[in-house]
Amino acid sequence: MPLFGTSRRTALLVAAVAGVTVAAGVALAGTAEAAGTLGASAAQSGRYFGAAIAAGKLGDATYTGILNREFNAVTPENEMKWDATEPSQGRFTYTNGDRILNQGISMGAKVRGHALLWYQQEPGWAQSMSGTALRSAMMNHVTQVATHYQGKIYAWDVVNEAFADGGSGARRDSNLQRTGNDWIEAAFRAARAADPNAKLCYNDYNTDGVNAKSTGVYNMVRDFKSRGVPIDCVGFQSHLGTGLPGDYQSNLQRFADLGVDVQITELDVAQGGNQANIYAGVTRACMAVSRCTGITVWGIRDSDSWRTGENPLLFDNSGNKKAAYTSVLNALNAGGGTTSPSPSTSTPPVPTGACSATVSLNSWNGGFVATVRVTAGSAGVNGWAVGLTLPSGSAVTSTWSATNSGSTGTVSFRNVDYNGTLAAGAATEFGFQGTGTGPTATPTCSAGS
Ligand code: XIL
Repeated sequence: MPLFGTSRRTALLVAAVAGVTVAAGVALAGTAEAAGTLGASAAQSGRYFGAAIAAGKLGDATYTGILNREFNAVTPENEMKWDATEPSQGRFTYTNGDRILNQGISMGAKVRGHALLWYQQEPGWAQSMSGTALRSAMMNHVTQVATHYQGKIYAWDVVNEAFADGGSGARRDSNLQRTGNDWIEAAFRAARAADPNAKLCYNDYNTDGVNAKSTGVYNMVRDFKSRGVPIDCVGFQSHLGTGLPGDYQSNLQRFADLGVDVQITELDVAQGGNQANIYAGVTRACMAVSRCTGITVWGIRDSDSWRTGENPLLFDNSGNKKAAYTSVLNALNAGGGTTSPSPSTSTPPVPTGACSATVSLNSWNGGFVATVRVTAGSAGVNGWAVGLTLPSGSAVTSTWSATNSGSTGTVSFRNVDYNGTLAAGAATEFGFQGTGTGPTATPTCSAGS
C-alpha cells in the first residue's frame, strides 16, 4: 500500500497549516430545514452521503442499523474488485457484489461501483499476464462486469489509482499501463458501451489539493473531454491525515470546470485534534462546488476501518456518533454556500465589444470561490484578459484555467493555452479562490493575450 508513506505524511503535516482557514470557516446560510441524518441532509441539496460497506458485515445489527438510518449511497469495499469478480479467467462470481447491490437497492440508495481496473487486488492470473493477452483480458473484464450490473450502478470507478505519487505527474508503472498508454480510454469506452447510464469516473488518492499528481489527472481529463473519451466524473479518495490542503475546494472546482462531476469517494481522516474540523472542511468544500455530487466515507465505525488504529470514521467502535459526525451533519445542513451573483449575472450581457465576463461566487465566512464566464463578442477572440477588482483586504490564493497577475486590488486574468480562442458568442470558464470577500463589480474583458 503506498498510501501512508513518509512523504505523504510530511505533505499532510505541511498542508495542515493551510487547512486551518478552511476548517475554521462556518456560517453558511441554510435555507432548508435541518435534517437529522447524513443522507437526508445531503439529499436536501441533491447530493448523496454514502459509506463503503462489506458484505460480511451485513449480519451485524449495529452496523446495518447505522447503515440503513444514515446513508443514501453505498460502495462495495472489496466485493466488486477484479480479484472478487473474476477469480479465475473467464469465471465471474457476483455473489458478494450482488449482496452489496441488493443492500443498496433495499435502502433506495445509489450504488457506486468500485473498481473495474486497478493495479492492486488484481487476481493472480492477471498479475502474471502482459501485452495483448492482458489488454484483451482487461477489456473483457470491464465489459462483463459493467454488463452484469448494467442499469444498476450510479457511478463506476472505471480506473483506480493509475497515476504515480511524487512530482512527475505521470502514470504509475503497472502491467496494465505497460499494455499501452491508451488503456484508460479503452476502459472508459468499453464501460460506456456496456452500461450507457452509469457515470464513469476516474478515482485516485493524494489528489486532494493542486499538486503534480492531481494536475496529471487534470490534464488527462481535459484531454479526454477534448477528444470525446466518455468520462463523467472524477473521484477524490481523500484518505486524509492531520490536515486538509488549503486548496482542496479549488482543486475540486478546477476539475468541475472541465465539465465533469466530482465526488469524494473514500473519505477517512486520522483521529486527532483536527478530525472534526477536517471532516467539516471537506463537506463544506463539496457543498460549495455545484458539481460535487456526493461524499462517501470508507467504512462506518472505527472498528470497520481499513486504517486499523487510526479511528478515522464518523462512528466509534460501539456505533456512537463522534464529534466528526456532528460537524459533517452541521456542514450538510448549512446548505450549498451563499451564491451571490454579481449584478452582471442577473441580466446576461449581449457582448458588443470583443468579449464580456460574468462572475458567480460561492462565499463562506472568510473566503470565496469565483467562477468567471468569458463570452466572445461577434468577432470572436484569440486570447482574452479579464480585470476584476477585489475589495480591500481580499486576495486571490489560487487560480485555475487562467493565469493571474497580482492578487489584490485590481487583478488581471489571462487565458491559458487551451481556452484563449473563442468563436463568436462562444464561452469558457475559469476560476479562482480567495480570502476575504469576493469581487462585486462587473469585470472588464478585452481581447488579445
Ligand atoms: C481497501 C479496503 O478497505 C481493504 O479492505 C482492502 O484490504 C484493501 O483495499 N483505495 C481504494 C480502496 O481504492 O479500494 C482501498 O480499499 C483503499 C485505498
